[in-house]
Amino acid sequence: ARITLRQLLEHAAEYDYGVPAFNINNMEQALAIMAAADETDSPVIIQASRGARAYAHDVMLKHMMDAVTEIYPHIPVCVHLDHGNAPSTCMTAIQAGFTSVMMDGSLEADGKTPADWTYNVGVTKTVTDIAHLGGISVEGELGVLGSLETGMGDKEDGHGAEGKLSHDQLLTDPEEAVKFVQETKVDALAIAMGTSHGAYKFTRKPDGDILAMHVIEEIHRRLPDTHLVMHGSSSVPQDLQDIINQYGGEMPQTWGVPVNEIQRGIKNGVRKINIDTDNRMAMTGQIRKILAENPGEFDPRKYLKPAREAMQKLCKERLEAFNTAGQASKI
Ligand code: G3H
Ligand code: 13P
Ligand code: NA
Ligand code: ZN
Repeated sequence: ARITLRQLLEHAAEYDYGVPAFNINNMEQALAIMAAADETDSPVIIQASRGARAYAHDVMLKHMMDAVTEIYPHIPVCVHLDHGNAPSTCMTAIQAGFTSVMMDGSLEADGKTPADWTYNVGVTKTVTDIAHLGGISVEGELGVLGSLETGMGDKEDGHGAEGKLSHDQLLTDPEEAVKFVQETKVDALAIAMGTSHGAYKFTRKPDGDILAMHVIEEIHRRLPDTHLVMHGSSSVPQDLQDIINQYGGEMPQTWGVPVNEIQRGIKNGVRKINIDTDNRMAMTGQIRKILAENPGEFDPRKYLKPAREAMQKLCKERLEAFNTAGQASKI
């Protein structure tokens, strides 16, 4: 069944667990997530970015979301817009059937310019005012994602802040977070504490200097009832880097967000954990392997099925680690 983000995160807060939000762009990813949710009795958040909407078409996404809830009627599914860049983007997503939207006003609509307070509160409040009338949940973001090591925003996939960022911009201010939630009435708040999107988050295993989990603890202390969201939360597992590199890929050594740090976040109000890169890597590792080992193969199912299974395994591991497993039948 479909569930709103608000309803799902309220349940997660009551029972002390987190919910991974996995990105989809295609049928294989949607089915992989649902198979993992079914296997572990977990509710899930399936999210689609603006890039996914452009890639797959809103109509295809809408029918895929409906299809998975029909195939797995016992699994609560929240369908969420990831990183809406403007109120209009959020409205078209709602029209397309999303029951939850992110208005990311941490950057201006160009997706590159760090926004000021007035802009962020303004666009976010516009969306909550309208979305809440229709029972749609809203995620906002305060603080800019990017590396505390280099001061750089996301870059590899063409969106993210441009230019060098200060620690003030890269770390959500706990006092401002309180004001932001009061003024915008967001259902969930994404915060910045040193993570960035993509595979290249850290040049070494992160410690508290570059992954500022203490910021989450401070925000949770001031906002105990607010559902917090961690973006850029792929762990970038070593075995997935290795398989990609073993079969012709070229990924320089990198580190992601350790699962135990996310578990610490969940103890401190983190309820939604965004993961895309790990699943991309899981699929790509298998596709590279199958094609390298079977150069004569050209049936897409022969490599997409193992890719799907690798993504299902990754999703299952996260659902278990975040204690999402076992919760679907309790909702
Ligand atoms: O925001 C980052 C998510 O991983 C989605 O990425 O915009 O390339 O679809 P995307
Ligand atoms: P990763 O790139 O770490 O998977 O983050 C995904 C994300 O935050 C989507 O909004
Ligand atoms: Na999101
Ligand atoms: Zn994100």
